[in-house]
Amino acid sequence: MPSSVMPTSRHGGGHASPTAISAVGLRKSYGEKLVLDGIDLRIPAGSVFALLGPNGAGKTTAVKILSTLITADAGDLHVGGHNLGADPQAVRAAIGVTGQFSAVDSLITGEENMLLMADLHHLSKSEGRRTAAELLERFDLVEAAKKPASTYSGGMKRRLDLAMTLVGSPRIIFLDEPTTGLDPRSRHNMWGIIRSLVSDGVTVFLTTQQLEEADELADRIAVLNDGKIAAEGTADELKRLIPGGHVRLRFTDPVAYQSAADALREVTRDDEALSLSIPSDGSQRELRSILDRLDSAGIEADELTVHTPDLDDVFFALTGPARVTNQPKETVR
Ligand SMILES: Nc1ncnc2c1ncn2[C@@H]1O[C@H](COP(=O)(O)OP(=O)(O)OP(=O)(O)O)[C@@H](O)[C@H]1O
Ligand SMILES: [Mg+2]
Repeated sequence: MPSSVMPTSRHGGGHASPTAISAVGLRKSYGEKLVLDGIDLRIPAGSVFALLGPNGAGKTTAVKILSTLITADAGDLHVGGHNLGADPQAVRAAIGVTGQFSAVDSLITGEENMLLMADLHHLSKSEGRRTAAELLERFDLVEAAKKPASTYSGGMKRRLDLAMTLVGSPRIIFLDEPTTGLDPRSRHNMWGIIRSLVSDGVTVFLTTQQLEEADELADRIAVLNDGKIAAEGTADELKRLIPGGHVRLRFTDPVAYQSAADALREVTRDDEALSLSIPSDGSQRELRSILDRLDSAGIEADELTVHTPDLDDVFFALTGPARVTNQPKETVR
C-alpha cells in the first residue's frame, strides 16, 4: 500500500500557514519495544489533525512526547515555534492537554477543579473566577458547578476536562481520544466544542479510534501502525488509496435488469436483488459514461447509488496484523 504524503502548507487564499506542530524522525522505544519508528508530522496552525491507530499503536505516546510529558529518544520536534528539547517550558506555556484519562479531581466540585487550574496558571483570584465562570457557562456546567465531580456523568466529566484545559487560553491543544465512552449526543456536543475552538484559530491535535470522528473534524489524518505513519492525507485522499468504489443500479423490471447487464460491461450481477454493481471512482465522467450507455440502450434504472470506500475500509486495509483485502463494504453476490 503506497503511503500518500501530500504536504499542504497552504490554506484558503494561498498563504502558507505557519506550522504549529512539527516532528521529523520522532522515535521512542520502551525497553525493547519500538513504539514510534521515525515519524514525520507537520501540522499547520489553525487546523485539526487526527492521529488514528489501533490500540497500542503509540497515539498516547506521541501526545505525551509532543506535550512534553515524556521525552523522545530522537527527533527534531517543534511545538508553537519552540524546540521541545531546548525549551520545554515555552512549549508548555503554548499548549493545553486533555489526556486519555481524566485529570478531573472527583472529590472536589467542578468549579473548584477550574479554580485549581486557574491557580496553576497563576491567574489572579478575580481573573481565575471570571475565567472559570466563563468556561463553566460555555461548557454547560453552570448547574453542576457546585457539585462534586464524582456525581458527574462521563460526558460532563469530559467537558470539565476540556474546560480545565482551556483555562490558560492555549493556542495549541492536544486531545487524546476526546470522545471515547461518550454517547452519540455528547459526542456531537464535543465535536461542536472542538469546531468552535478551531474557528477561534486554535490548532487541535487529536487522537481517535473513531474514523467517523476523524472524518468529521480533521483537516488531515495520519494512520499510525507498526510504529510508522501508514498513510497521511485528507479523509478523501485516504479513501482514494483504497479501491472498492462502485456504482450500484437497482431495477424492479427483470427485462430492464437483463438489458442493462448486457449493455454494461464489467458488471457484478445480483440476480435476486436485480442489482448491478459497476466498479467506479464515482467521478462525473464515469457516471456520465454509465448513464450514456443506459440511455442509448433505452434503459432506466430504478435507483442509482454511488459507493465510495469509507475510512473504515482505509483503517482495516492499513492497520492490524491481518490486512484485509480491498472489498467494498457492500458486497454483491
Ligand atoms: N510507560 C510505558 N512503559 C512501557 N511500555 C509502554 C508505556 N507506555 C506505553 N507503552 C507501550 O507502548 C505502546 C503504545 O502505547 P500507547 O499508549 O501510546 O498506545 P495508544 O495508541 O495510545 O493505544 P490506545 O488506543 O489503547 O490508547 C503499547 O504497546 C504500550 O504497551
Ligand atoms: Mg492512548
